[in-house]
Amino acid sequence: MYKITVVGTGYVGLVTGTCLADFGMETMCVDTNAARIDALQNGVVPIYEPGLSEMVIRNVHYRRLRFTTDIAEAVRFADVIFIAVGTPQMEDGSVNMSYVTTVAEQIAEHLDEGYKVIVTKSTVPIGTSRRIKEMIAGRLHERGASARFDVVSNPEFLREGTAVYDFTHPDKVVIGAESEEAREMMKQVYRVLFLNETPFIHTALESAEMIKYANNAFLAMKISFINEISGLCEAVGADVQQVAYAIGKDGRIGPKFLHAGPGYGGSCFPKDTHALAHIGRMHDTPMRLVEAAIGVNDHQQQRMVSKIERAVGPLGGKRLAVLGLTFKPKTDDIRSAPALTIIRELAARGAALQLFDPAGMEPARKELEDVRGSIEFCDDEYSAVQDCDGVIIVTEWHQFRNLDLDRLQGLLRSPFFFDLRNIYDKERMLQLGFQYYGVGV
Ligand code: UDX
Repeated sequence: MYKITVVGTGYVGLVTGTCLADFGMETMCVDTNAARIDALQNGVVPIYEPGLSEMVIRNVHYRRLRFTTDIAEAVRFADVIFIAVGTPQMEDGSVNMSYVTTVAEQIAEHLDEGYKVIVTKSTVPIGTSRRIKEMIAGRLHERGASARFDVVSNPEFLREGTAVYDFTHPDKVVIGAESEEAREMMKQVYRVLFLNETPFIHTALESAEMIKYANNAFLAMKISFINEISGLCEAVGADVQQVAYAIGKDGRIGPKFLHAGPGYGGSCFPKDTHALAHIGRMHDTPMRLVEAAIGVNDHQQQRMVSKIERAVGPLGGKRLAVLGLTFKPKTDDIRSAPALTIIRELAARGAALQLFDPAGMEPARKELEDVRGSIEFCDDEYSAVQDCDGVIIVTEWHQFRNLDLDRLQGLLRSPFFFDLRNIYDKERMLQLGFQYYGVGV
């Protein structure tokens, strides 16, 4: 049984390390953040991810899972080392590679003997794994070290909110490797999935890296496509929900990722589409569809604000409730959340805002600190709606699907209801006396 090290305890790293430990492997997770490592060792998980803390606690208890800040120890310990640190977006859309580069250099420094597989798990620009391989080979040569190694690209497709399930039930495992030894070792690491008949896709390094970007860009494009259609549906009086349902029945299109909404957010789609567009520009091969998907996504968020303003009138002096701040339900992640853009724009146009989210209040408070204008963070959905000229549902948390509509009508100053996730039935809402606006309906 191989020993595993995972460098980086963010969403991808922590889920990878914990699930591999749960598959039965001795696993060490490394991070430079000592407070985080300390907390994890005591079973305190710094992110909100269903099922994850139980799994951390169980595997720490059985001593299959350990946490450390000592990268040298972690490199020596493992047969397989996953790099799963952040790859944030830079101003120009390119990827900030400083964390990945630092970790790769640390690995090179501590690789002494035997054979190890170094896996790029973070989403990295195409060509990174090969560059890491060359860099490590160069450093080993300089030191005269006898260690042998391979670099493997093994992108991750888990979603936040269902990360543990996704990691343990993936649609596919992509392994970009250059030697049989490395491929075999990766198959052993994912033995549990292999036995479950998960498709394993073996490619070269560059193809594996490209698969991740192409996968995410395609999904982002699908969302932007239906969002663009939603605008036209509103203009011509069609219903985007029926359109999406019907086109989704075409097996070549498929039903998923066709929900019109306020635009996609999160830590992946915005960053990865920008990165792919940037890589395209660098190679003089513009990614026109991807660029368009980015443009449509920005426009969709602005379009939501214009729609609200058109309905309620000039926003100066208006008070609006915003329900749902995270980029999607079941997470406390507000990175690139459409709610933030919408809030900033509404505030800039003079609206006073009352906000509520079941999990994202603290990060949102910090993120919106610089917004001038009146923003109030409320205790629950009903106090957020109190005395407002309208309510805007931006994220479809379960608890917003069953709001007490009588109570809402009593609390609202005027009955504007903007359902940016289409979770209520338009006809029924109109019958109840709401001024109802969905997206594309
Ligand atoms: C995504 C990918 O799904 C995952 O494979 C990848 O590895 C990382 O990025 P995640 O960002 O966690 O995962 O969330 P996801 O559930 O895919 O949603 C992304 C965004 O798209 C959310 O803002 C969501 O609200 C939006 N979305 C999704 C839509 O607006 N409409 C849809 O039909 C689907």
